Parts: sequence; C-alpha cells; structure tokens
Amino acid sequence: SLKLAILLIIAYLLGSIPSGIWIGKWFFNVDVRQHGSGNIGTTNTYRVLGKKAGTIVMIMDILKGTLATSLPFFFNVNISPIIFGIFAILGHTFSIFDKFKGGKAVATSAGMLLAIHPILFLCACIFELSFTYITSMVSLASMISFPLIVILLFLDNDPWLGTIGLLLTIFIFIRHRKNIIRIKEGNENLVPFGLIYNH
Ligand code: G3P
Repeated sequence: SLKLAILLIIAYLLGSIPSGIWIGKWFFNVDVRQHGSGNIGTTNTYRVLGKKAGTIVMIMDILKGTLATSLPFFFNVNISPIIFGIFAILGHTFSIFDKFKGGKAVATSAGMLLAIHPILFLCACIFELSFTYITSMVSLASMISFPLIVILLFLDNDPWLGTIGLLLTIFIFIRHRKNIIRIKEGNENLVPFGLIYNH
C-alpha cells in the first residue's frame, strides 16, 4: 500500500541521516570523512572530534534505528518491524545524503535490536564495551559482538531473528573489510584505553 511505501521511505531517510558528517560540519567545521579511518560512525567521530561528539553521534545513530524499527507500531502497520530496521540500516550504509555511501551499520543495527529485543541490546552493549576494552579495537569488538548476539538469538528460540542477525553479521564483516586488513597487518587504530593499548 501507499502508506507502507511511505513508511519504508521514511525508515530509509531516517537511517540516511549522516550524524557524524553533520555534527562535524555544523559544530566543528571538520569533515570526519577526511580524518582517521574516514568512517562517519561513532568510533571515528570520537577519534577525530572527541568524546562529546562521538557520544552524540552514537545516540543519534542508535536512535534512528530504534525509531525506524518502531514505525509499524506507531502507524499500525502489520509488517515485521525488522523490515523497517533493515531499511534504516540500508539508509545508514547507502545514505542519500552521502552519495549512497555511509557507515558500517553497527550502531543502527544496535538501535534496531533495542526496539525488538531490549535485553539483548543490553547484552550487545556489554559485549561491545568489554571486547573494546580487551582488544582496544572497536572494529574487532563489533565483529565479535554480532556473532555472539546471533548465537543468543538462536538460543532464545528465535530462528527468524537469528537468521536476519546472521545475514547482518555477514554484511557487517563486509563493511569492515578495510578494518580486517588492518587487524591482520597489526595496524588497526586503537582506542586510547584497554588491554592492548596499555602494552
Ligand atoms: O562502528 C564502526 C567500528 O566498528 C569501526 O570504526 O572508524 O575504527 O573503522 P572505525
């Protein structure tokens, strides 16, 4: 229906909001794409513009996923919220405001998880923080946390969500291909804390 089509477009547009680019441009006159890893996400914003900007981008990127995923509840549409979450994730990674480029889908996927499974969202946050502390690499922490959440989804007897999570995990690995090369070569960017950084 027309209503469904419009809502899916809204989900895509919400996901498309390039918080990292906009916060950098508006408040710092800096293009995060020109610095650090060149990514527009939480990690690179934190790296380039500091804790405050990084935190704002993280909250925005999570919330746009949560909001998009919640659209069918707000507007009484009988379609799986996951479809809307996926449209937001596609927006985030192939943004209409960034020449169809974009981020690595970590925060926006987490935002979708917050809308459909808040407890697992909490687990995801704990995983991400713990593995970031252990490895001093957000990229590696993301690539460990996603498969762990997929395992928990299957253990929670939700094979449909688990399968979506598995596909999303593959997608996230593809988005992190440059990170994977850097990790293998031993020159991935480290966060300024954690076990590896201190060595
Ligand atoms: O959220 C993206 C993160 O996993 C890696 O970011 O900037 O280190 O490539 P970055």
